[in-house]
Amino acid sequence: MRHAYKKKVLYCGIIIIILIIFLHPDMNGRSSYEYIEKDLIPDLLYEETAANFTSSAILECDYHDVLFDDTTLPFSLVDGDLIEGHRIREGGEYSPSECKPKYSTAIIVPYRDRAEELRGFLVYMHMFLRRQSIHYRIFVVEQVDSRPFNRAKLLNIGAAAAIRGGYPCLVLHDVDLLPLRPANLYACTKCPRHMSASINKFRFVLPYLKLFGGAIAITSNQYKTINGMSNEYFGWGGEDDDFYARIEVEELKMCRFEPETSKYHMVGHKMPGNGDKRKKFLKYEKNKISNDGLSTLKFIEVATVLHPLFTHIMVDL
Ligand code: BGC
Repeated sequence: MRHAYKKKVLYCGIIIIILIIFLHPDMNGRSSYEYIEKDLIPDLLYEETAANFTSSAILECDYHDVLFDDTTLPFSLVDGDLIEGHRIREGGEYSPSECKPKYSTAIIVPYRDRAEELRGFLVYMHMFLRRQSIHYRIFVVEQVDSRPFNRAKLLNIGAAAAIRGGYPCLVLHDVDLLPLRPANLYACTKCPRHMSASINKFRFVLPYLKLFGGAIAITSNQYKTINGMSNEYFGWGGEDDDFYARIEVEELKMCRFEPETSKYHMVGHKMPGNGDKRKKFLKYEKNKISNDGLSTLKFIEVATVLHPLFTHIMVDL
């Protein structure tokens, strides 16, 4: 009798373990996916600097060593301070003085309520980015109203500001993600690029092939072509799937760098509940693109402040 009971418990335990393994979201994930081979990256980079950007350097920067840099940065850098003499200008703008950069990138970070995380992110990103010899500026777009967080609309607002500022390349970036490999160049490729394909939180596996959230590099022209992102996703999730659907509708092929280069560390925090609009727009219609996005963006700009490490745009949606 006792033996039979033990057996039952054992079988139940095995079944539960099997269910946990197979029903885990990462089971559909891929540790390999189609990516641009390293040698081909230089030809696929979108070379352009910001409209009003000038550099007094004579030599052009060379990106070979950056792309083939095999170091991994420790994410513990978030707890430190910036090195002295970092030469970051007010508003969070930087360009190398020793060579003329080929790329200007606006890094746009949607934000609310995570001051400590933002501090660590800014320190880390400036340390990371200044190794890449690019011209860049960090824009943090903060939602100050109390409605559910609208990541995509904040990204549209930041993108519109960066485009007005003449930036040809946008990197849309979550504040909880830290790129680990300096070889992951923060410049645009000719194809819209999903940069954060290998995140520790997903055990460095891509959860699904069409995932297009986290960190994305897209040219300003492509962003305008797809009319940016939808303004209608309040709450967590779905807005990045909608964004991907726009890319597909406009027949822009998404690309990635290899998994090793695409490694990110996600700073842990609780996931908020799912957004109410999540399922609604996943089936995309072409005509919807022109009715919802950059062209229909409405918000109140509360203030824009130039801080030493970033441009802070505060908005009421
Ligand atoms: C959501 C996306 C999210 C992804 C990864 C999907 O179910 O729709 O918004 O980025 O999961 O967490």
